[in-house]
Amino acid sequence: MVDGAGGKGSVGLVWARSTDGVIGADGGIPWHVPEDLAHFRTVTGTGTVLMGRRTWQSLPERFRPLPGRRNVVLTRDPAFHAEGAEVVHDLDAAIGQAQSAGGPVWVIGGGAVYQDALARADRIAETIVDVVVAGDTRAPTIDDAWELVEDGPWQESRTGTRYRFLEWRRR
Ligand SMILES: NC(=O)c1ccc[n+]([C@@H]2O[C@H](COP(=O)([O-])OP(=O)(O)OC[C@H]3O[C@@H](n4cnc5c(N)ncnc54)[C@H](OP(=O)(O)O)[C@@H]3O)[C@@H](O)[C@H]2O)c1
Repeated sequence: MVDGAGGKGSVGLVWARSTDGVIGADGGIPWHVPEDLAHFRTVTGTGTVLMGRRTWQSLPERFRPLPGRRNVVLTRDPAFHAEGAEVVHDLDAAIGQAQSAGGPVWVIGGGAVYQDALARADRIAETIVDVVVAGDTRAPTIDDAWELVEDGPWQESRTGTRYRFLEWRRR
């Protein structure tokens, strides 16, 4: 299990995807697995969570900023304001700044930011949700640069959907 402590300066990506790689549809996540939300909370711990503007806007207002974590929102819009979060305009600078503040950085989406941050990451916490759904946003491809270090068993959500947790580390 990936733990919230992570390594100081570590950069992780955390996502849940369908069996065929979908992570989002119409600005939301097209399944409901509460156990994965609890896992997400554990993984991200008390570190920095870095997300794209669309992911920030996908969070219900009562859940943002995500409590107990430093929330950082990436946008190219110089006028964008996110109540309770820091707004940044450059991914590398945002990661570097969070690393120097200490503690891990968890990139929490969405598709555009995962893609850009992948080269900077050293770990991936991946949930596979056993559904096939239509979507417009996909997880990046995990290539040979990554080693699977945890291959969790299938579990069944109280909602009836199966899911499992994987952890990848950069070789
Ligand atoms: N299943 C999961 O684990 C999971 C997790 C998170 C999100 N999601 C889903 O993913 C979808 C959202 O993903 P998305 O790809 O559409 O959007 P996103 O990655 O959340 O946000 C994209 C926005 O972030 C900003 N951005 C991205 N890269 C940037 C960079 N290098 N520099 C500056 N700003 C940058 C831009 O904002 P501006 O347009 O404001 O400039 C861009 O439009 C939703 O459906 C959401 O529910 C799923």
